[in-house]
Amino acid sequence: MHGSWKGRDVISILDFSRDDLDALYYLADKYLEKIQNATPLRTLEGFVISLAFFEPSTRTRMSFETAAKRLGAGVIGFTAAAGTSLEKGESYADTIRMLDGYSDLIVLRHKYEGAARFAAEIAKHPVVNGGDGKQHHPTQAFIDLYTIRRLKERLEGLNIGVLGDLRYGRAANSFILGTALYRTNTLYLISPPQLRMRDETRIILEDLGVRFYETESLEDVVSDLDVLYVTRIQKERFPDLSEYEKVKGSYRVTRRLLETRAKPDLIVMHPLPRVDEISYDVDDTRYQAYFKQAYYGVPVRMAVLSLVLGKEG
Ligand code: NCD
Repeated sequence: MHGSWKGRDVISILDFSRDDLDALYYLADKYLEKIQNATPLRTLEGFVISLAFFEPSTRTRMSFETAAKRLGAGVIGFTAAAGTSLEKGESYADTIRMLDGYSDLIVLRHKYEGAARFAAEIAKHPVVNGGDGKQHHPTQAFIDLYTIRRLKERLEGLNIGVLGDLRYGRAANSFILGTALYRTNTLYLISPPQLRMRDETRIILEDLGVRFYETESLEDVVSDLDVLYVTRIQKERFPDLSEYEKVKGSYRVTRRLLETRAKPDLIVMHPLPRVDEISYDVDDTRYQAYFKQAYYGVPVRMAVLSLVLGKEG
């Protein structure tokens, strides 16, 4: 089962099966225990991993870096195109060829959709997509599902709300597609009309026979939910900023709403960064799961790196 990960590119959650995810979570559980026991690992000693971040990132980049270092691998890379030869006019393809020559695996983030798939066609080594434009963020979805599995002890039969920017948000898109692997879930897709899920995602859900409802009102559905996944409005991806101004601040999860309407065991998730969509007074309630979700980023990404490099253990 583990063999199916070796040498693979990780571009879209759609390329992975439930068996693949089971193998990943089995290993992530092991790594989580090692982290908690402060047990050093040398699983990837001698390997070099490139972190090529053409777009801003805090968690994805730093958790991949932490994951690599916790497994004993070396890390090279950059956090913006500024400072690299791209500024001198080097092409994206040439930059990828260089990284491919220097390292055993490339983690990549880019503002353009398809950038990771394109890099995977050029590179001989595996490419892991750390987010490409509004399209995919597969490792975030792995972490999100892992968080639900740990906190709810199942991935089936749940009412899952996804609130926010379902149009431009790659984390939301990948999460929605990831939950669809588990057919007995029901999705509540909650967004202002301008930010509704894109047709390409809708078609996939329909093809898979996933039960989903679309609504503008969190208040109407919050009492049904077991999981509420909140996302930020992706300001930087709006082709027209006046459109952003119209939806800015249009939803907010508050402690009051949760305490008056939500099931007591609802978990509130968010891929982060948060802007104003979850009020700070939710942070110290029992609903808050977003900091745990961020914490699980390291063991899950450790599992991704070691499975893809064929060195799990
Ligand atoms: C997300 C992203 O970059 O897509 N962040 C993350 O990786 N945790 C979500 C976002 O930026 O809103």
